[in-house]
This record gives sequence, structure tokens and C-alpha cells, in this order.
Amino acid sequence: MSDSAFHYVDGVLHAEGVSAASLAQQFGTPLYVYSRDALTRAYRAYADACAGRPAVVHVAVKANSNLAVLNVFARMGAGFDIVSSGELARVLAAGGKAENTVFSGVGKSAAEMREALEAGVKCFNVESIPELHALNEVAKSLGKRAPVSLRVNPDVDAKTHPYISTGLKSNKFGVAFSDARATYREAHAMPNLDVVGIDCHIGSQITEISPYLDALDKLLELVEQIEADGMSIRHVDVGGGLGITYDDETPPDIGDFVRALLAHIQKRGHGQREVYFEPGRSLVGNAGVLLTRVEYLKPGEVKSFAIVDAAMNDLARPAMYEAFHRIVPVVKRDAPAHRYDVVGPVCESGDWLGRDRDLAVEPGDLLAICSAGAYGFVMSSNYNTRPRAAEIMVDGERARLVRQREEVRQLFAGESILPD
Ligand code: LLP
Repeated sequence: MSDSAFHYVDGVLHAEGVSAASLAQQFGTPLYVYSRDALTRAYRAYADACAGRPAVVHVAVKANSNLAVLNVFARMGAGFDIVSSGELARVLAAGGKAENTVFSGVGKSAAEMREALEAGVKCFNVESIPELHALNEVAKSLGKRAPVSLRVNPDVDAKTHPYISTGLKSNKFGVAFSDARATYREAHAMPNLDVVGIDCHIGSQITEISPYLDALDKLLELVEQIEADGMSIRHVDVGGGLGITYDDETPPDIGDFVRALLAHIQKRGHGQREVYFEPGRSLVGNAGVLLTRVEYLKPGEVKSFAIVDAAMNDLARPAMYEAFHRIVPVVKRDAPAHRYDVVGPVCESGDWLGRDRDLAVEPGDLLAICSAGAYGFVMSSNYNTRPRAAEIMVDGERARLVRQREEVRQLFAGESILPD
């Protein structure tokens, strides 16, 4: 297993001190299971490497927005990175603070800007000139000044999947590097904006440090130009994106990653600046698994299928990105393995969770889909009118239901039929 919070005891998978088989028995499947200890350790790895430096960790809420997960981070003093007013509401409900929250995203609406300004978020990461104008107007209508940083697109290759690479010129994100200096001047001239920082986010599931250092070099060069133009940049936000081990990837360790970036910033003579991190996946990805039960085995001439009760609506990553998630038995069987595609019940050929997996399984067996804590439940849907899974948080020997399984009647409760 990729994280020691999930391990076998006498052939049975455990989440911390709790058997995954008993969790499935008690709460049913499909079931997301998170480990508080794994969440805590990942956050601590960031926070410890930042200690003594003006550096702040903002948890990217989009990766996992369950209130219990956010609350674990809030209790440790984390900041948050949000991309909607819905995520802001979650942060506040989970005990996070607006004044330690940054608002990212390429298409914030005026209503979202208003809510975030009224709540008092720490900074808006703005991505275009029209957005600067919109924010200036909203701030004016509230008699406030909005703190802004511009998300600059450094045009570096993060060497990751094209769908989750965001720092190239061809992406929709950020202000083009060549326009950034002029855009800062425009922002500075707007009376209801307060320029406070600079921001970038080059992609996700990045397994090397070098793209970050390239991006930092460009960003810091820009900071010097902007300050020469009379603005002062208090913080440099390096975004998120650090990868995790799904299979055989070898991303840098969190502490090494943070220390390398901070050292680089120091070396470039910017050690006094506040540095913001926006990690998502590396905090939650390996802190969660998705438990599923085998419904049927379907042998075939070309392929054999293990049809399970979780589907692409529960975990979209394989269907969307051809992402690999390890799939392991919850109770190990002493029997020969056969090769299966692990697929769900949804009526789409794209509904698969793992391909060509060697498994010793029988109908009724439980499987764990690993590394499912990030972009798992949050990307789930009700396609095929499938209720979304329940979520559990394990803490030592205890397991708590932190989101109830949806019921079918909830799914159409807001719908109505024509009166005649
Ligand atoms: N900050 C910004 C502005 C972002 O857009 C993202 C992720 C993050 C931080 C957090 O990145 P992380 O540390 O999690 O890599 N659904 C895809 C990933 C999309 C990431 C989008 N942005 C997946 O399942 O792989």
C-alpha cells in the first residue's frame, strides 16, 4: 500500500486500527474511507518544512471538500484555497477562517466576489483584466478595497497529463507572462484594488521539482520589475500540484519539496517574502481509499471483467484521465489470480476503474481502490441515478460516518412534473 495508514493485519486490510471489511459491513459500499492520521501527517510535513519561514499552507479545497476533512486541517491552523463561494461556505462551516483563505479560479462571478469580500478573504487570485475590472466594481459597491494577486502563466512544462497541466501558454489559465507587468500596472491604477501578491499554478500530479524552480525564476524576475514600477509584492503563491505515488511514480517527499522551493527563493534574494502553497492531492490523495464489492465475474474470450458496485460516477479519474489507481483485495485469498478489467455498472464502455489487473477474487469479495482521497468523492456524480457514496473518517480505533450515503428519493426531490 502506498500509505502506511492503510495496511494488512492477518491478510485483512485495515485503515489505521479498523478493519476495512468491518467498515464495508457496517456502512455498505461503495464507501470512501479517510485516515485522519494520514491527513495529519501530510499537513504536518508541509507545516514543519515551513516552520520559522514566512510560509503559509492553503489546502486546495477542490481536492476533497468533506467538512470533516477540512476541519482536520482547520484545527491544525491551515489556510484554504477555494474556487467558488460554495467552497467558501464549506471552509467556514468546517471552522476555517476567511482571513486565511485565498480565492482562485478563472471565472469568479460578481456574486461570488461580493460574498468573498464580505466574508473578508485574504486574497483574490485574479486571472484576467476583465476580472480585475469586475472585482474593482464589486469592491467599490461595497466601499472596500479587494486584495489581489495576479495568477501569471509562466509558460513552463509541468510534464504531467495534458488535462491537468495548467502553466502552458495554450492553457486557459492565468495572465500571459508577457502581459503580466502591464496588467499589474492596470491593477495598481484601480482605486478599489490593493495589489498584494503574485501567483501561479503550473499543473497537478507533478513529480519533479525542476518545473517549479523554472516557474519561480520567471515569477521572481517579474516581481522585481513590478516593484521597480512602484508596487510592493508581499507574497509569492506557488500554487499546488505536487504529485503522489499511485503506481510507481517517485515524487519528491513533501518536506524536501517545500525546502527546495524556499531555498531557491532565498537564494534568489527574496527570502523575506511570504510564500503561499496551495496543495491538494499531496495532502489527501493517499489518505483515502474507495471500498467496493464485486457483484459478478464475467469471463470472456478477449477480456474478463470483475463487475463491482462502484463506478465512474463514484470515481471519475480513470474514465476522465485514464488514471491508474491500485486495486487490492480487502481480504487476501490464497488462490491463483486471474486477469480482469475492474468495471462498474454504468452503461458506458468508459466506465472502468482498473484495466488488466491480476486478482484472486470471487463474487461478494471486497476490493479497495487506492489513492482515492483526492478528486474522488468531489468529482462524483449521480449519473445513472446512482446515489453518491458514504464517507467515513477513521481515527485510531474509531470510525465516524462523515457523510451519509445519498438516498434515491433525495436525487429527484427538487424536480417536478408538468401540471397538465
Ligand atoms: N491551486 C489551484 C489554482 C489549482 O487549480 C489546483 C488544482 C490546486 C491548487 C491543487 O492542485 P493539487 O495540489 O491538487 O495538484 N481533477 C484532476 C486534478 C485537477 C487539478 C485542478 N487544480 C485529477 O483528478 O487529477
